[in-house]
Amino acid sequence: LHDAGIQVIGIIPNLRLAKRVEAAGIDMIVLEGTEAGGRIGRIATMAQLTNVLPEVKLPVIAAGGIVDGRGMAAALIMGAEGIQMGTRFLVSEECIVHPQYKEEIIKATDEDSVETGLSRNLGMRGLRSPFTEKYHQMEISGVPIDELNKFATGASRRVAENGLGDDGMNGMVQCGQGVVPIKEIKSVKQIIEETVEEAERLLRNAPSLVR
Ligand SMILES: Cc1cc2nc3c(=O)[nH]c(=O)nc-3n(C[C@H](O)[C@H](O)[C@H](O)COP(=O)(O)O)c2cc1C
Repeated sequence: LHDAGIQVIGIIPNLRLAKRVEAAGIDMIVLEGTEAGGRIGRIATMAQLTNVLPEVKLPVIAAGGIVDGRGMAAALIMGAEGIQMGTRFLVSEECIVHPQYKEEIIKATDEDSVETGLSRNLGMRGLRSPFTEKYHQMEISGVPIDELNKFATGASRRVAENGLGDDGMNGMVQCGQGVVPIKEIKSVKQIIEETVEEAERLLRNAPSLVR
């Protein structure tokens, strides 16, 4: 990729991998905590920033559970160069997921997301549904990984295109744990502007926190 002039950014779930990709010559890392939507590792965003930032020289982008300017300001104060948001942009005017996908995230509480597949290193976070209940049963009962993969194949696409389905078995609404402030569908422009404005306001006011 470098030979073709392409910058390489890795999504990193722990310090071990961060050091490995740094040694391999990567350009930047997205340090993603377990509270993120989609594929996840086991370590929370705050702990990741705490553990990894002092140990690597690479620019770090923080991800996982950040949905507004407060999270952005906190990540920048911790020493990150920027943030990556996923869940917040699912609930945007431009996002083409099924309307039910967005409604489920708007309705979700902080306790509604679950991790599937972590016991098999296939961690994925989304909202609890009949599909995730069935997945957990299969995971706990120790079915072979091929069978789990077969059950989950196509699920992300099914829910994104068609919603959960009458029996809730289409799949899971992938999203992170940071959902409560997401109360309405906004344009991507509005989301970015509001996030940056809020972060700037908080960072400008930060000196008032110290005597
Ligand atoms: C529906 C969904 C699909 C995602 N797919 C990918 C993916 O294919 N590759 C990837 O590196 N990250 C993927 N992510 C992770 C995001 O890039 C981002 O790091 C994450 O959403 C940040 O956490 P947040 O959801 O709490 O904002 C996905 C996230 C979601 C919610």
